[in-house]
Amino acid sequence: MAELVIVDRDGKEHRVAGKVGVSVMETLRELDYGVAAICGGMCSCATCHVYVDPAFADKLPAKQGDEQELLQELSGYKPTSRLSCQVQFTEALDGLKVAIAPDE
Ligand code: FES
Repeated sequence: MAELVIVDRDGKEHRVAGKVGVSVMETLRELDYGVAAICGGMCSCATCHVYVDPAFADKLPAKQGDEQELLQELSGYKPTSRLSCQVQFTEALDGLKVAIAPDE
């Protein structure tokens, strides 16, 4: 089992079993403190925005152009921003820590 560590918008940390083989968003969208993921993973809504712990930055695939473009339009954009629907969760990412970004 691979765990995700999630920091909610109140700064509280939660450890949950992450769904492996699908995007991180698929786990986050089922949590009360998770993400809305309105577009369902089509990389068009940015309501799945998270900040990835810098310790995991090198372990994730690079952002694609459309993800980067959407992120940069957000007022809450940071270099650690990712769209969680564009990050596949794998066993190798056990312990991945993400913070839910503020609502835009
Ligand atoms: S769920 Fe819409 S961009 Fe990720």
